[in-house]
Amino acid sequence: MAEGSVAGAVREDRLWQRHVDMAKLGGTPRGGVNRQALSAEDAAARNLLGTWAKARGFATFTDTIGNLFVRREGTDAKARPVLSGSHMDSQPTGGRFDGMYGVLAAFEALEALEDAGVRTKRPVVAVAWTNEEGSRFQPGAMGSAVFAGQYELEDMLQMKDWKGVVVKEALVETLKAAPAPMRDGKPGFPLDGYVEAHIEQGPRLENDKKTIGVVTAIQGSRRYIVETLGEEAHAGTTPRAARKDAFAAALRVAQAMYEATTDKDDTLRFTIGRVDVAPGSPNTVPGKATFTIDMRHPSDAVLEAHEKKLKEIVAAKAAPCTAKIERVNAVAPTNFDPMVIDLVRAKTNALRLPNMDMPSGAGHDAMHIAGLCPAGMIFVPCERGISHNESENAVPADLAAGARVLVEVLTALANR
Ligand code: GLV
Ligand code: MN
Ligand code: MN
Repeated sequence: MAEGSVAGAVREDRLWQRHVDMAKLGGTPRGGVNRQALSAEDAAARNLLGTWAKARGFATFTDTIGNLFVRREGTDAKARPVLSGSHMDSQPTGGRFDGMYGVLAAFEALEALEDAGVRTKRPVVAVAWTNEEGSRFQPGAMGSAVFAGQYELEDMLQMKDWKGVVVKEALVETLKAAPAPMRDGKPGFPLDGYVEAHIEQGPRLENDKKTIGVVTAIQGSRRYIVETLGEEAHAGTTPRAARKDAFAAALRVAQAMYEATTDKDDTLRFTIGRVDVAPGSPNTVPGKATFTIDMRHPSDAVLEAHEKKLKEIVAAKAAPCTAKIERVNAVAPTNFDPMVIDLVRAKTNALRLPNMDMPSGAGHDAMHIAGLCPAGMIFVPCERGISHNESENAVPADLAAGARVLVEVLTALANR
């Protein structure tokens, strides 16, 4: 089959309409989505994907952490499959494309193969990984990490959201609402390759007027929870000197951390994204404060050195309160497979799409799957690089271009 003929079966209108349909599930008044992992909205998205899969005659199945797979058979049923996908959960004020694009591009690839009548040797499987965002349940990229054996299934099933709901219960509810045949045994099966499409979530492609990012690597990331403990007291009567104000302690710790993580070239990323103050009453001095830290850098050694600094700050700055810092997860930087990187670049060039090599600043499920098989990623632009925001936007032509590259790459991998 000639170069680009499977790509020619990618339908921009269909791919766009699928995004429109999915965006209704958890859609927010400001045009974004709130589709938390293992919520009713997540279940609705799973059901919709399942309905589309059924209509095309593709088999669906799930595993014990809830990852949802859609399989198109190859000519050799015993051959290891090639996998592609991303996630359908979102940030609380998330956009329509983060994650969902990767799932729908993979599904479009399956449909394009079907429409073009192309038989591949290996099965091609689309996946929607469970809880990539980690906004409801930490840690993020949970489904792919369990699949890859990076996190223990039993540990993850016990993780709680901020209301105390455990993953295990939420998963049972989700799978009841969105049933799919359960694959026996522990999550994970042999793969021959993995490619994930995603919006860039940054401004580089748009600024450089490129349609495709050939992703070479993902920076390392670590997440922490800091807790300060003081003493609840009356806000009107307790003198400053007698207070153990947990929020004041959290502020001192946080301020010192911002300073310690400021680097000259602005490579280190440090974010405090959630703060909780208890008991949360205007006229009680807070007895407890909790905040999250997300810290990222391309070098694990730099992350390690800064982790040490964060611990020193927690020990030094909390008095008269006490404080502790707990690491929730650590993912080392990922370098993608040169074979997949070269293949993505070659297929992009063959389709005459302007492109550039780039590392990923965001984390993706691909970082866990890269340890299992040759893996890579394809980026497409998003408007002004804005993501984790309800106004996140991308244009249909770019989404389709990424899907065209994806289907060409998957076809090549599936015929290896
Ligand atoms: C995923 O959304 C990340 O936090 O990088
Ligand atoms: Mn994502
Ligand atoms: Mn995200």
